[in-house]
Amino acid sequence: MIVGVPKETFPEERRVALIPISLPALTKAGVEVLVEKGAGERAGFADTTYEEKGAKIVSDRAALYSQAEIIAQVRGPGANPEKGGEDLKLLRENQVFIGFLDPLATPEIMKQMADTKATVFAMELVPRITRAQSMDALSSMASVAGYMAVLLAATKLPRFFPMFMTAAGTISAAKVFVIGAGVAGLQAIATAKRLGAVVEAYDVRPAVKEQVQSLGGRFVELPMETSDAEDSGGYAKEQTEEQKRKQQELMADHVRGADVVVTTAAVPGKKSPILIPEAVVQGMEPGSVIVDIAAEKGGNCELTVPGEIVVRHGVTIIGPINLPTSLPYHASQMYSKNVATLLLHLCKEGALNLDMEDEITKGTLVAKGGQVLHPAVLQTMGAE
Ligand code: NAI
Repeated sequence: MIVGVPKETFPEERRVALIPISLPALTKAGVEVLVEKGAGERAGFADTTYEEKGAKIVSDRAALYSQAEIIAQVRGPGANPEKGGEDLKLLRENQVFIGFLDPLATPEIMKQMADTKATVFAMELVPRITRAQSMDALSSMASVAGYMAVLLAATKLPRFFPMFMTAAGTISAAKVFVIGAGVAGLQAIATAKRLGAVVEAYDVRPAVKEQVQSLGGRFVELPMETSDAEDSGGYAKEQTEEQKRKQQELMADHVRGADVVVTTAAVPGKKSPILIPEAVVQGMEPGSVIVDIAAEKGGNCELTVPGEIVVRHGVTIIGPINLPTSLPYHASQMYSKNVATLLLHLCKEGALNLDMEDEITKGTLVAKGGQVLHPAVLQTMGAE
């Protein structure tokens, strides 16, 4: 079995799908790895390091595609309309493609990928079950995003994070409020605590209270009905308009009282809920910072502009859309572990062995044999 790792073509993408340290386990399982020249360079992994771990470096992208039975990338062809189209032409029948594909938001690209008759896996669809934890790339990247969100806030905040006494007076600790305590939110809490901030957090799922507290954060209790906040998979359910309005109102004082607000509230497959309306931003202290990492899906703050930093009513609002790429070494390390584990799951004795009854294989598979098969993707395409 040959796995090909092309260089990422998405502008500003610095991650790479497999890093040298993941290769020995793959080689041991009979998987050979081809890496496009310079693919790992921007993440800090030189071609020579790949070669030392047994990979072959290939200069020609088309040659890499034609030799590899599996293509592993960070971002799929849909991420880069120009170059992605060229890659689509290189995909062939039964070739396996693994990468982040944004499958629920790009039905047209999923159809184009299916039309190549390749077998397409989307890393976003890895089920969040215990057995698949080491393949859960969304969690890995959310962790990076939560960490980077706090660092970004720290560089924009005109204040220190930690409290300290100096000969020039006492510096009070920054107050950080984290909204949404999933993977990204918990990492944001941990990072803000390490920097010395006083941290509060809120989540509609009361089950996360203990996790927030174990990181040294204070869990904010709002007098809201939360008994039906979670679905059977443990994810937040979409709120009604009335619930959203009530939450905005009850949370407003906590937002206004914070120097930094990190918002991560997400409901799988849905647009992010607006939790901070303009009127609340208006009430924040000038110089405060909001980092809205839900920006990719519309944002949790009404004034967020995805991909931009704007100042509104004296408040800096950051709407980052690809935070993991700003920490490419470790983001690649984590992603590589996730991809390598999935590869080992899909291969047996050096050959591809797809068990279509397996929850992980079935759950992650978007298309095969010319057909889109994943029910949620089909739904977004309006098909039966
Ligand atoms: P997650 O599903 O683990 O956590 C989201 C949390 O939000 C859950 O705990 C959920 O209960 C909570 N939530 C939902 N509705 C809420 C509400 N109304 N009020 C308070 N909490 C609410 O998701 P994860 O993996 O932590 O990702 C969080 C967000 O970060 C997602 O929108 C994801 O797309 C985004 N993300 C952004 C990146 C970037 O570069 N901007 C990179 C990685 C993730």
